[in-house]
Amino acid sequence: IDELLTEGVAGKRVFVRADLNVPLDGTRITDDGRIRAVLPTVKALADAGARVVVASHLGRPKGAPDPDFSLAPAAARLGELLGSDVAFATDTVGESARSVVAGLADGQVAVIENLRFNAGETSKDDAERGAFADRLAALADVYVGDGFGAVHRKHASVYDLPARLPHAAGYLIAGEVAVLKKLTEDVKRPYAVALGGAKVSDKLAVIDQLLGRADRILIGGGMAYTFLKAQGYEVGKSLLQEDQIPAVQEYIERAEKTGVELVLPVDALTATEFPDLKTKAPANPTTVAADAIPADQMGLDIGPESCKLYASKLADAATVFWNGPMGVFEHPDYAEGTKAVAQALVESKGFTVVGGGDSAAAVRILGFDETAFGHISTGGGASLEYLEGKTLPGLAALED
Ligand code: 3PG
Repeated sequence: IDELLTEGVAGKRVFVRADLNVPLDGTRITDDGRIRAVLPTVKALADAGARVVVASHLGRPKGAPDPDFSLAPAAARLGELLGSDVAFATDTVGESARSVVAGLADGQVAVIENLRFNAGETSKDDAERGAFADRLAALADVYVGDGFGAVHRKHASVYDLPARLPHAAGYLIAGEVAVLKKLTEDVKRPYAVALGGAKVSDKLAVIDQLLGRADRILIGGGMAYTFLKAQGYEVGKSLLQEDQIPAVQEYIERAEKTGVELVLPVDALTATEFPDLKTKAPANPTTVAADAIPADQMGLDIGPESCKLYASKLADAATVFWNGPMGVFEHPDYAEGTKAVAQALVESKGFTVVGGGDSAAAVRILGFDETAFGHISTGGGASLEYLEGKTLPGLAALED
């Protein structure tokens, strides 16, 4: 983007593909981290006199307009953060978008409606995606890719559109890639990784890569119970992906052979039912040993001994990557495991990276000071796929 700014963007229509996919409670944004993350790029372009057209997806609407997934609240928040009026187009490539963009003055910013309101955005059909990209291209002279959270998606605005316009990477993408490079090339050791979240299946590919790279892998969250079961323990009513047990067993064996320390919970906080996340009514958690979860109980967080163990395993690491909550942190009774890991990163003297999505939201929602972390990624799936060594369509499209 610096090159682009040097060449000059005054009067040019610059399409910024951002990731404004923020969590919403109705129309209230509960975490605006992703909007704040794209501000440097949007500000720099506006300050240089560009006519900035910001676009993003939000949620997973079904390829047609759906008021529950409108970007209007994100556009309003962007305006507040910029301290200037942000115009909003109520469609993506229709009459509203065309007239809003045509009405932009130099240095002004507009947001167009959710890109996924058009089926062409996410289509698997190249021609359909291309046709939508053509219509998006008509709105702009230049493309800046800065939606790091979506670079793993082969979508029209991420992959096809940059091929149609002069393009550059924004500050957010450049910063994210620089950090992730540190984790893949020349990582400082010991390198510890804490992985949580609900499903093992989402993390298999990254565990596969990390078994050749990390010194320690700490497993928490819902996926820990498939690991415990794979070791022959009873997990009661806990979340379990039976079909993943053979893969997990293979990883456990590979970790032993390669000398990677695989750390599993030694205790768990349980309940007989899933807690009410709306009322947050007290759930009266029970602490049980991780190798003997009673048949009528489900594990909902790592227990206090596991918290101590995980903190100790992270304490002396020179590099820490964390992705995925350790428990159902949205309920105060099951937030301690996630807090313990976040706190261990805060206290670490090493380089710490929080890998996007739920863990980034957890850090903010649980009240941690964001500046105490080395880096908080805006991409959950994107940062994992980067670490898996995959080619990310949204980065590949910007590379030439
Ligand atoms: C994310 O939240 O990880 C990104 O915004 C991508 O969203 P998606 O998983 O719906 O493509």
